[in-house]
Amino acid sequence: MEDLLRMKVAGVVLSGGPASVYSPSSPHPDEALLRGHIPVLGICYGYQLIVQAHGGEVERASRREYGKSSLTILDRSGLFSGFSQDKISCWMSHSDAATRLPAGMSVLGVSDNSPYAAVQSADGRQFGVQFHPEVAHTEKGSAILSNFVFNVCGAKRGWSMSNFLDETIADLSARIDGRVLCAVSGGVDSSVASVLLNRAVGDKLQCVFIDTGLLREGEGAEVSKFLREDLGVPIEFVDASRAFLSALDGVAEPEEKRRIIGRVFAEAFERYAREHGPFRYLAQGTLYPDVIESGHSSAPASVIKTHHNVGGLPKGLSMEVVEPLRALYKDEVRSLGALLGLPAKVLQRHPFPGPGLAVRIIGEVTPEKLRVCRQSNKVVEDALVEGGVYNKVWQGFAYVGDDRVTGVLGDERKVGYQVTVKIVESIDAMTADWYRASNELLESISAKITNEVEGVVSVVYAISSKPPATIEPQ
Ligand code: XMP
Repeated sequence: MEDLLRMKVAGVVLSGGPASVYSPSSPHPDEALLRGHIPVLGICYGYQLIVQAHGGEVERASRREYGKSSLTILDRSGLFSGFSQDKISCWMSHSDAATRLPAGMSVLGVSDNSPYAAVQSADGRQFGVQFHPEVAHTEKGSAILSNFVFNVCGAKRGWSMSNFLDETIADLSARIDGRVLCAVSGGVDSSVASVLLNRAVGDKLQCVFIDTGLLREGEGAEVSKFLREDLGVPIEFVDASRAFLSALDGVAEPEEKRRIIGRVFAEAFERYAREHGPFRYLAQGTLYPDVIESGHSSAPASVIKTHHNVGGLPKGLSMEVVEPLRALYKDEVRSLGALLGLPAKVLQRHPFPGPGLAVRIIGEVTPEKLRVCRQSNKVVEDALVEGGVYNKVWQGFAYVGDDRVTGVLGDERKVGYQVTVKIVESIDAMTADWYRASNELLESISAKITNEVEGVVSVVYAISSKPPATIEPQ
């Protein structure tokens, strides 16, 4: 608390988290923080901390809420100042709830299942919301956060992407005094990281593209074209696909697959580094959601998935890690990439998971399922581009498991694979909603997959949001 006062912090946001405030092992801030010197906004778990600290009651909710809900605004001042509507849709994800408010706290909004969905302390310096204003699916969530930051805390606007770019380049070029090795995958994050580093440290940078055998069709050739030929970034290609596929042989458990891919990736990377080194630094395009969801931040978020670009660093190499994008979300990385001159086609490319098609194959990764998955993914991507939908959605892809369903082909019974198509809308991948695709688009994807991908007799469409599902099936 003394540190916050010394730093003249304008306000504090206590974020959500997986713990329960009444559990003995749950994290609690310094009590002085909630005595009212600094404005505080508590979100979900953070809100429940405020309620508990002031003598209210938090309990396991009788009706839990996950996903979309409707908030009725009762008071259009404070957090909701400037709002013209009485209702907004908001995103909830909680199993605990405030059941009794502390004395003096007033209710600013209610939702279907939360009579205390938004509250304010008597002095107007502490606020709590049970929903998540920080996710894109909460309507006017940024306006709620802006009201807190600018109106309640009185903070000034000073951050811009071009300042961030200048400061990051200046920081990297002052700090980096040796060779840097950067693994690139062709995805937006590592491409932006490599171009940024190229700008900052010039020929101290060497990039390497490791083909895991789990990539999308034509990925290597495309990367070579835009990074090496168009942007002049030094890059070498290593085909390690046999090592990955043999290490994955017979493995079905998703986190085990991730660990194996992380380990084989680290080995391939390490070998390259030893043969072409010495390198002093290891650069990665890690983003903020990777840091949070992999449990590698100091925040107490649950480990949702072990994203291999964070979890599987080569431990045998004594290289310093450089992660220039670790404070950014994907949409911010895209804006940064645009400032750096990366082509729109690359920037708009849908995210692709580090462990590649292995997390789009449920159960064992077999050559047959890999082929079905790769070809079906290509059909979905092409159909989205042709239908003018690709740039409107966060991600569209296909996944396959071991389900075999009965079909009929040329009047004959034929048992084959069932492929699931998933298209989602999202801003930051922390939450997502399924895309309401047109019947025509779904019909053409289904027809193309069953006609063109040998061995598939059925196609289904995934209609789950995140939460409760994650975007990738594994
Ligand atoms: P999930 O499936 O966690 O994905 O909702 C969030 C976003 O991150 C992308 N992504 C990954 N997903 N392992 C993953 O499971 C990874 O290593 C990884 N890297 C990126 C994912 O495609 C989605 O956009």
